[in-house]
Order: sequence, then C-alpha cells, then structure tokens
Amino acid sequence: MLAGRSLLEPMDFTVEEMDEIFALADRIIDDPKKYAHACDGKLLATLFYEPSTRTRFSFEAAMLRLGGQVIGFSEPNSSSAAKGESIADTIRTIACYADIAAMRHPKEGAPKVAARSAGIPVINAGDGGHQHPTQTLTDLLTIHRERGSFENMTIGLCGDLKFGRTVHSLIKALSRYENVKFVLISPEELRVPEYVRREVLEKNNIPYREVERMQEVLPELDLLYMTRIQRERFFNEEDYVRLKDSYILDAEKMELGKENMMVLHPLPRVNEIAVEVDKDPRALYFKQAKYGMFVRMALIMSLLGIEG
Ligand code: NCD
Repeated sequence: MLAGRSLLEPMDFTVEEMDEIFALADRIIDDPKKYAHACDGKLLATLFYEPSTRTRFSFEAAMLRLGGQVIGFSEPNSSSAAKGESIADTIRTIACYADIAAMRHPKEGAPKVAARSAGIPVINAGDGGHQHPTQTLTDLLTIHRERGSFENMTIGLCGDLKFGRTVHSLIKALSRYENVKFVLISPEELRVPEYVRREVLEKNNIPYREVERMQEVLPELDLLYMTRIQRERFFNEEDYVRLKDSYILDAEKMELGKENMMVLHPLPRVNEIAVEVDKDPRALYFKQAKYGMFVRMALIMSLLGIEG
C-alpha cells in the first residue's frame, strides 16, 4: 500500500510497488479521460527552492489533469524561507492547506526533514546532488514502454556522474533487476560517488566499468543515459569550463550504437547531445519528458490512496 507514504529515494518503493505505479501509468495513458476527475478536491503544493522546468510543470500538469489543484512557489525568496523559516515549520504550515507536497531543494536531505514533520506525503523532487526519485520513475516508465523489461541490459551513463542526482537514483533502482551491467562514462573528476559504488554496485555484485571515452563502449550499450555537467554544483568556474564539453553525442557517434539503443536524458541539455540527434528514432528524451507527467499522475493517485 502506497497510500499516505512519502517518496524520498527510489528504494522507498519495492519492485512490486513500482510495477503497480507503471501499470497505473499505462492505464492512464490508454484512457486519460477516465482519470480526469480522480483527484477532484485534492490540492498539491509544489515547493521549489531550485530552478526547474520539467519536474515542476509535469507535477502541476499531472495534478491538474487529474482534476486536482495546485499551490506553491518556484522562487523561494517569495516565501517565508527568505525570512529564515525552517523547512520543518514551512512544511507543517503547508500541510494545513494541501494534501500532498513535492519539494526540490539544494540541500541534500531537505525533503526527508520535511517528511518527518509533514503529516502528508512528501515527494522528493530533487535534493542537491543526492537523489531524484521521480526522474527515476520517469526513466523506468520510458524503458518499460519502449522496451518492455528492465532485465538483461548494458546501461551506459555518461557525463557528470558525480553531481548528477538522476544518475545516483537510476543506478539504485536498476540495480534490483536481473543481469544489468553498467558502463560509467565520465572524466576522472566526475566519477560516480564512492557511496554509490560501494553501497549499491559492489554490495550487490553488479558488474560495472568506469571509462573515459564514449566511442569505445557505444556498440555494446542497450541504453545510453546522457547527462548535463552540473555547473551550479561546481566549486569553481574554471573546472566547469574545462569539463563542460567532455562529451558531445552527435550523428556520427550514434552510428556506432546498436539499432535499438535507447538514448535518454533527464534534460535540460546544454551541449552534450547535438540537435541533429533529435530526429534519430533512438532519441527518446522528449518522449521521456511526456512519460514524466503520466508517471507523476500515477504517483500522486497512489500516495493519496485513490484507486484507479
Ligand atoms: C535534472 C535535475 O534537476 O536533476 N533535471 C530534471 O529534473 N529533469 C537533471 C539536470 O538538471 O541536469
């Protein structure tokens, strides 16, 4: 039962619970009209302390398309955070008005702190360089819809694997399926954090390799997950400038990939995928953004305990 629970990191849900969410998302995609009033009278609060396009809009669109309503802020200086209010006090107040909340925050663990005093379900919409579980639900729904199964895959993750929270959450979630292998493609300085390597990959005996060059591994990948270099989390601009164009996926490199290789990206992209790749049928990132709304519809219904 997901009713009343929070989603702070991908392992909060079992594989079976995730399957239930994907099954509900499938039903919503098949017949969206049927769900147009599923959340009548319910209110979602979106608390965004960091910039966002897809995550916030898809949460808000999801609630509105279910017949519910949305309140919130996308500019923390317009809330009492600017007066020094604690997260715990802010969420206790929001919980007086809303039924469910989605929070994005630059500090790792902030949504977890909020969930402790909320009394309503809190969804982590990205906490610093830590986790981003609803992006993972989005990524998994895309794989489920486009490929059918999560098993027997070689997954290449490319770019900023150190600060990229979507990568950390996706590795965690995919590590629970049979016969998955990871190829971690990044510059030395932007490798996956030690805790992900040790506590997820090594602990579960998941085969993985760390490489710097993309070309040599492209032919073996079933999924290529591209990411942006996370400028806002760098300590100095010089390092960012040196690393920002480490990887650029273009049409020539796509020729090295399998015919059915899936290319995903949480977006926003900066330079790491050339626009010419967009017309390749293997480029799924805009479809992925659309699936993000459907999976959030399924998530909101499930956490509110609304049958569907
Ligand atoms: C990602 C994020 O915020 O972590 N974006 C998103 O939610 N789709 C990825 C990024 O910002 O690079």
